[in-house]
Amino acid sequence: MTNQLPLANSDLVEQRLPPALAAPLPAFTVRGVPVYGDLILAPMAGFSDVPYRRLCREYGSALSYTEFASVEGVIWKSRRTRVILNFHPSEHPVAFQIFGADEDQIVKSCQIVQDWGPDLIDINLGCSTPKVSGRGAGAGLLRDPAKIGRLYAQLSRTLRVPVTAKIRLGWDDASRNYRQVARILQDSGASLITVHGRTRAQNYSHPADWDAIAEVKQAVQIPVLGNGDVQCVADIERIRKHTGCDGVMIGRAAMGNPWIFQRRELNQVPLAERTAMIRRHLAAMVEYYGEKTGVMLFRKHMVRYLRGGPDVSPVRLQLLTCDHAADVLQALEAYEAHVREWGGEAS
Ligand SMILES: Cc1cc2nc3c(=O)[nH]c(=O)nc-3n(C[C@H](O)[C@H](O)[C@H](O)COP(=O)(O)O)c2cc1C
Repeated sequence: MTNQLPLANSDLVEQRLPPALAAPLPAFTVRGVPVYGDLILAPMAGFSDVPYRRLCREYGSALSYTEFASVEGVIWKSRRTRVILNFHPSEHPVAFQIFGADEDQIVKSCQIVQDWGPDLIDINLGCSTPKVSGRGAGAGLLRDPAKIGRLYAQLSRTLRVPVTAKIRLGWDDASRNYRQVARILQDSGASLITVHGRTRAQNYSHPADWDAIAEVKQAVQIPVLGNGDVQCVADIERIRKHTGCDGVMIGRAAMGNPWIFQRRELNQVPLAERTAMIRRHLAAMVEYYGEKTGVMLFRKHMVRYLRGGPDVSPVRLQLLTCDHAADVLQALEAYEAHVREWGGEAS
């Protein structure tokens, strides 16, 4: 007699489970868009492109934010903007991030890009670089809360997709208006707020203020993502506990470290796993951009994967000058052999 119990049993178990238990629950929902996980790769110009976002998603990042795209680039249909706002179908949910200073241009560009398939549109109210904030875009918008209110009211009235915001705490120490801005955002129809716990003037110089993120979480009912200075896995639980935020956005600590989304500390990842990841990421870059651009753009990732590795300085220099994928692979193999020879753990 053949025993088919395992199959029949699992079918029965499936049938007996109430649907709510059978389906995974989202960590939070952004106006009807479920997000299945509490860790999210931050938008980072020059880093969070399609190849790296896909790797991070596979490792547990729950939502894809594009690098920021300017309203001018959208309206003038620049090729670079189409590349920035490109995404792979497996990446849903996807948030397009847009920056600009002029209300009408922001609204117009959001209306254009919502037809390109994002699940969310995020407006950047946090970029501190003078080129952006100095002309009233990014964190420059924080100087005019009334304008933020008008902008979000118009966006939420005219867009089909939910609109979200990524803010800093204010322009400078004299104008830390994050509570006011957060309430205005919520009242004007924003569906999620990410808070980077620094002012524009602080740039990256001060430790991020997690108390302020907690205050925003207390002040609004929409989901809040906490961001700033999450450097290791232990920090993820610390910021969640400290702020009560719905999710954690991770930027610099995720460079060369997709394992953080698996809640694995980088120093627990053996060198062999890092070099395997370098090969995989490099292949994805070459496939996406072509060899010349792919290898060039990959350099900054590569050196970060190897940080803290044994006797890494000579190979780092060598890798930074490679123009071809084959040269990268050869240098990597030589490095692994060198580490093995010296009793490291590259095998
Ligand atoms: C290289 C780089 C590029 C960035 N580009 C963007 C961007 O395009 N849009 C944005 O909202 N923030 C951008 N940021 C800010 C990050 O999203 C994040 O808010 C900041 O790095 C703080 O988080 P962290 O301490 O986890 O790095 C960028 C940061 C870095 C380091």
